Amino acid sequence: MSERSQWSSKLGFILAASGSAIGLGNIVFFSANAYRFGAGAFYVPYLVALFVVGLPVLVLELGLGSWSGRSFPEAMRLAGGRPAELAGWFGLGSATFITMYYITILGWVLGMWVGALGEDLWAASVALPAFGDAAAGGLPAGAVPNPIAFFFDMLSSWRNVAFVVLVWVANLVITWRGASSIEAAVKLFVPLMWVFMVVMILRGVTLDGGVQGVYLLFTPDFDAMSNPAVWHGAFSQIFFTLSLGFGIMTAYASYLPARSDQAASGLMIASMNCAFEFIAGLAIFSMLFAFSMVPKASTLSMMFFIVPQGIASFPTGAKLFGVLFFTLLLVAGLSSSVSLVEALTSALQDKLRAKTRAGILVAVCVVGALGSALFAWPKVIDPGLDGDGTMGLTFLDLMDHWAFSYGLLLTGLVECVVVGWVLGPAKIRDFLNAHGRLKIPAGFDALVKWVIPGVLIGLLIYGVVGEVRDGLYGVAIAGAGRPYAIGALAVWLVGSLGFAAAVTFGVPGDEGVTP
Ligand code: TRP
Repeated sequence: MSERSQWSSKLGFILAASGSAIGLGNIVFFSANAYRFGAGAFYVPYLVALFVVGLPVLVLELGLGSWSGRSFPEAMRLAGGRPAELAGWFGLGSATFITMYYITILGWVLGMWVGALGEDLWAASVALPAFGDAAAGGLPAGAVPNPIAFFFDMLSSWRNVAFVVLVWVANLVITWRGASSIEAAVKLFVPLMWVFMVVMILRGVTLDGGVQGVYLLFTPDFDAMSNPAVWHGAFSQIFFTLSLGFGIMTAYASYLPARSDQAASGLMIASMNCAFEFIAGLAIFSMLFAFSMVPKASTLSMMFFIVPQGIASFPTGAKLFGVLFFTLLLVAGLSSSVSLVEALTSALQDKLRAKTRAGILVAVCVVGALGSALFAWPKVIDPGLDGDGTMGLTFLDLMDHWAFSYGLLLTGLVECVVVGWVLGPAKIRDFLNAHGRLKIPAGFDALVKWVIPGVLIGLLIYGVVGEVRDGLYGVAIAGAGRPYAIGALAVWLVGSLGFAAAVTFGVPGDEGVTP
């Protein structure tokens, strides 16, 4: 049996797990979702989702790791046999698609970071080759203001692919030695992102009119809460932000000695994550209000247009805060993306009984980088399809729709069914309670067996009904875009399931392992 990675201390584990949880999801997706769903309508469903589903599933995923001492798919197999293992690999496969575009976005963040150091990003506007020659009906220089113009200019050039590849190299370096090199990185990154976030919020609320945004975000809007879309959004956000349904927390927990207090860890990780999310929400909402900006619903516009635009109009220190903001996104995003690279590498290493991880890790990063490069492909597509302009961005949006809105919830559902109905939730609860100081109450069993699967099934049905009604993700892309939507669905489903089946049934030799 090969040596498995180990965290050198409990602190290292907590930093790594909270580094995984705190990411782009906290800094921009939360605010963008909250804004889309009417601000004050969002945080109550969000808190309900956190306590009813988020925290129990987090403890469940950590518990699976401690109980089995293995990474996610093998932990699933030990809990529920081959079909459960298949679901485990499906979860990792689907999460890999998310990671591919997540890292594409991080590549763009890197590009904007470099831009923020120079002058072009801060100039009023730049010419836009992406939208064609002005004489031939394209947009003339100056028609689109910065930072939007700068962003699309970068997207339409090959340099954005280079940035994406660089971010993959950073992922490779950070995960090179597994737990020990991840620990070294998060010891720097996690404190850094807290400090930067605190600076951002202090700046945000001291802007004239900034406090208004804070009121809006935390004034509950009970009417809007009757809209099921708000609830669907809140539950998806909780899964994403806590890194649930990725197989990450199970792998990370398996690097600790079995007798660790995972109920306490779960509580700590969730509180740090959600505290960070609220602080970021305050910072972004105060900025929005100080500059009376009305964002488009999209998360990417929040990150690349709206916040940078706000920063550009700061009375002083725009450049400094710009660099700070993109550095914050980079370190937070990297400490998240490495967690999936590690979870996938460690799962493959467990499955293949590999003595060394270097070959597996390099293969994971090369495949990942190819995928991310495709999402960054700078080809301009039919502008009638959507306003976003490039093919990669359209596919990114579609893949996000399938893997984010369905993949995570689906994996969470199977996990709860396997532990709830095959293994028995009391097994995990008793195991953790035997040496944890913080005891998990017996109500956990009913949550895992009934409540969480019920909620998740309800959300999935709600989603599918919406697809049928709107014609497959018809909201963003109607008519002409249908083949793209179906194509992305097929790539996600066939890709994740094909990968899962190949690894589950194609690689023999793991029969003798017990938890
Ligand atoms: N929790 C992260 C966030 O809020 C998301 C995340 C964690 C993630 N691990 C990941 C995304 C791996 C992609 C790949 O941003």
